[in-house]
Amino acid sequence: MKVFDKIADVQNEIAQLRKQGKTIGLVPTMGALHEGHLSLVKRCVAENDVCIVDAFVNPTQFNNKTDYDKYPRTVEADAKLLEGAGAAIAWFPTESDIYPEPDTRVFNLGPLAEVMEGPARPGHFNGVAQVLTRLFDIIKPDRAYFGEKDFQQLAIVRELVKNYNIPVQIVGCPIVREADGLALSSRNMRLSADERKHALRISKALFESLKKMDTMSVAEVRKWVCDEINSEPCLEVEYFEISNSLTLQPVENWSDAENIVGCITVYCGEVRLIDNIQYKKA
Ligand code: PAF
Repeated sequence: MKVFDKIADVQNEIAQLRKQGKTIGLVPTMGALHEGHLSLVKRCVAENDVCIVDAFVNPTQFNNKTDYDKYPRTVEADAKLLEGAGAAIAWFPTESDIYPEPDTRVFNLGPLAEVMEGPARPGHFNGVAQVLTRLFDIIKPDRAYFGEKDFQQLAIVRELVKNYNIPVQIVGCPIVREADGLALSSRNMRLSADERKHALRISKALFESLKKMDTMSVAEVRKWVCDEINSEPCLEVEYFEISNSLTLQPVENWSDAENIVGCITVYCGEVRLIDNIQYKKA
């Protein structure tokens, strides 16, 4: 595996690979890698001649300075994991590489960005669009890989590449969970042992709510999930929306859309965790 920081070096390497006709897959990450990221890397390795992984904690997508400062940074461990997962290139850019000047671009991401994380984290998706358009422009990958844990982000990335005609295929990959059900997240590292135990209630409530679809309305399931989670010490639901998976607009009835997703954000102490579940009638 080759490790780069400078854009010129990574682009030089890519130019050589392109001359040899190789296909290139990109896994954009913010580092602090875990099995969830590695599942994206493995899929990228399997589907492309070359897998590039970048790890960059993107300041423009954080609307909370403490969250940005506390975001885990584990460069050496990340490089080892990437080597083990078969990545060909690990790229650790610096802030001045990605943003030689302040990025003032404002992206039109439409109604998908106006719900859930949109109002909860103003400017977040614009920051995601800023960094991804930079990365896509620098690497020009054939495919790029994103986890379904960030369900809304994945929908917005698809919209971004469509609206701005960016020639990259977006590949979504399933959520990876701990054996007990907690969705993997770099933020889990910040949970105390006690918080980690309580956090389990999030995925438990989501899975149990699937069984309630036959007897409860959408509004009742929504309330049941929120009450379940809020009754656990140190957990506080920020939002839980049950929505059409394609438009991300809330549904009122289980029959309102073919594919329905429940997206949740919960504070566990100071750590903001997200998860989601697909509601399918058995
Ligand atoms: O999902 C993430 O880790 C980030 O939002 C991404 C896509 C790497 C952009 O910084």
